[in-house]
Amino acid sequence: MNDTVSSLATLVADAAAAFDAAPTPAELENAKARFLGKSGRLTELLKGLAALAPEEKKAQGARINEAKQQVEAALNARRQALADAELAQQLRAEALDVTLPGRTPGQGGLHPVTRAMERIEQIFGSMGFDVADGPEIEADWFNFTALNTPQDHPARSMHDTFYVEGGYVLRTHTSPMQIRYAVQHVKRHKHLLDAGLPMPEIRVIAPGRTYRVDSDATHSPMFHQVEGLWVGENISFKDLKAVYVDFIQAFFETKDLEIRFRPSYFPFTEPSAEIDMKFATGPLAGRWLEVSGSGQVHPQVIRNMGLDPERYIGFAFGSGIDRLAMLRYGVNDLRLFFDGDLRFLRQFA
Ligand code: DAH
Repeated sequence: MNDTVSSLATLVADAAAAFDAAPTPAELENAKARFLGKSGRLTELLKGLAALAPEEKKAQGARINEAKQQVEAALNARRQALADAELAQQLRAEALDVTLPGRTPGQGGLHPVTRAMERIEQIFGSMGFDVADGPEIEADWFNFTALNTPQDHPARSMHDTFYVEGGYVLRTHTSPMQIRYAVQHVKRHKHLLDAGLPMPEIRVIAPGRTYRVDSDATHSPMFHQVEGLWVGENISFKDLKAVYVDFIQAFFETKDLEIRFRPSYFPFTEPSAEIDMKFATGPLAGRWLEVSGSGQVHPQVIRNMGLDPERYIGFAFGSGIDRLAMLRYGVNDLRLFFDGDLRFLRQFA
C-alpha cells in the first residue's frame, strides 16, 4: 500500500518535472501523452484496477484519481505558463514606443541673403520706395550704354562678365534697373509730362542677382545688389544722405555707427561717392567698411530715362547685399553663403 502511495507520488513528481521541462506547447502535449495518453503511465495503472478485489479497487481507484488530478493540474499550470510566455513574447516583438517623437517632414528656412533682402525691402518700403524686379540676362544697352558707359569706356573693364550671344550679358550690377524702371514710369505718366504737369517722383529699389568674373573670399561670380533711385524736381544729395543713414541704422538696429561719403567715380553719376560705415562697438568697431556706391544721377542718364535734366534731378545708390548680410550676421567668408552647407544655413532657419 505504502509502496503504491510512494510510486504514485513519484509519478506525479515525474509528470510535473516532465511538463516543466517541455519548452513548447507541442512538446508539452507529447509529455502529457506519456502520462495521460491511451498507454500512458496513469492510464496503465487505471487499467490494472480491473484485476483487483472490489474493496481494494475502490481505495486504489480513489488514490489514482487523486494522482491524476494532480497531474492534470500540473499540466494546466504548465499550459498556462507557456501561453503566458508566448503572449509576453509576442507583445514584446510587436511593442510600439508611443513616446517616440513622430516623423515630420523636413522644414526649410530662409537663406540669410534672402532674409537680408526682405529686411531691405521692408525698410525702404516703409520710406515709400517701390520694389522692382528685372532680368538677369540684360541687354548691353541697359547694363552699360544707357548708364553713360559706351562700348569703349574704361569703366567696362571693371565689369568683366559672362557674355551671352546677341548683345546680352549677365548683368554686372542692378543699375540697369534705374533705366528700365524710369522708362516705364515716364511712359505711365506721359500725359502729365506732355501737359507740362508735375510727374510723381520715381522712388524705387531693385534688389537682385548680379554677375562678374570674380571669385575669392569676398567676391563671388554671382552676388547680390540692391539699387536705389529717387528722381524728382528737387531731390538732392542731402536726401541721399538722410535716406541712407536711416536705412543703415534700421538695418543694423543701432545708431551707434558713423557713415561717410567718400568722393569716387561712376560713369552714371556726377558727383559720385562711395558710402562707408563704421561701427562704434562690436568686433568690427573702428574699421571703415565700404557698403555702397552712390551719386547724383548723371544728366545723360536722366535723358536716357526720357526726362529733361534741366527739370529732373535725383540720386542713386547700389549696395552689396551679401556684404550687408555678412556684417549683420558676422559671417567672415562670402563663399559660405553659396556652398549650400546645411550646418551653416541651419543657424539662420
Ligand atoms: N553699379 C555700381 C557698381 O556695381 C554701384 C553704384 C554706384 C550704383 C553708384 C549706383 C550709383 O546707383 O549711383 O559698382
